[in-house]
Amino acid sequence: MEKQRLDKMIASTGKWSRREAKDLIRQGRVLVNGAVARSAEEKTDPAAAVSVDGELLEYRRYTWIMLNKPAGYLSATEDGRGPTVLDLLPENLRRQGLFPVGRLDKDTEGLLLLTNEGGLAHDLLSPKRHVDKVYYARVAGCLTETDCKAFEAGMTVGDLACLPAGLEILSAAAESEAYVTLHEGKFHQVKRMLAGLGKPVLYLERIRMGPLELDSGLSRGAFRFLTENELERLRGFDNPTKNVKCSPKTQ
Ligand code: URA
Repeated sequence: MEKQRLDKMIASTGKWSRREAKDLIRQGRVLVNGAVARSAEEKTDPAAAVSVDGELLEYRRYTWIMLNKPAGYLSATEDGRGPTVLDLLPENLRRQGLFPVGRLDKDTEGLLLLTNEGGLAHDLLSPKRHVDKVYYARVAGCLTETDCKAFEAGMTVGDLACLPAGLEILSAAAESEAYVTLHEGKFHQVKRMLAGLGKPVLYLERIRMGPLELDSGLSRGAFRFLTENELERLRGFDNPTKNVKCSPKTQ
């Protein structure tokens, strides 16, 4: 891997800003392979052992974050119309060039990935990759087997032609609940498909994207870094999660 500036490597952990990293280096608190680092500009091998105050850093070239998006935030990096998901991150992470991997509507909650790794993000969103997204939906109206068949067949709603999708009914009454699995991601797709069946969405939450399930330990608005294992699974992922069962919904 290409060498990086030392302050950039330290800041990429999300614990310190670039300026704080420079101060740490100046104060002699940073060691590279056991030797005190001299300069923030020092080009450093990402495989080097970098420590701050004796604590070894887990350095990553790119940052990947799992956010439990609350309603009321736009999936954008900047938008004059209201707060964006970046506003949910601390200042030092906001400066890392992160962007949301795909979009959730302003009122949709749940799993949203943020990264500054353009290549992999692009791959995950590519229609060729068909990375599955699973949503929990609450709708007005009673969902039926006919609705499931319409999803399976691939619906056309107005000018929106949809690939076959999954609809797993969890409860059916005047208001119903279901898991919806999409193998693509078109604008307002879940809402438009369900509205097309005369069952408008009352509430929508994404609970899975590809191999990653929304971490039940993350409260609404909270985030965490992806683990190495999760990143490996994302990188190696190219099969639809057709048979992946989601954990039972608890809310
Ligand atoms: N489909 C929708 O209709 N809205 C979302 O936010 C995501 C998928």
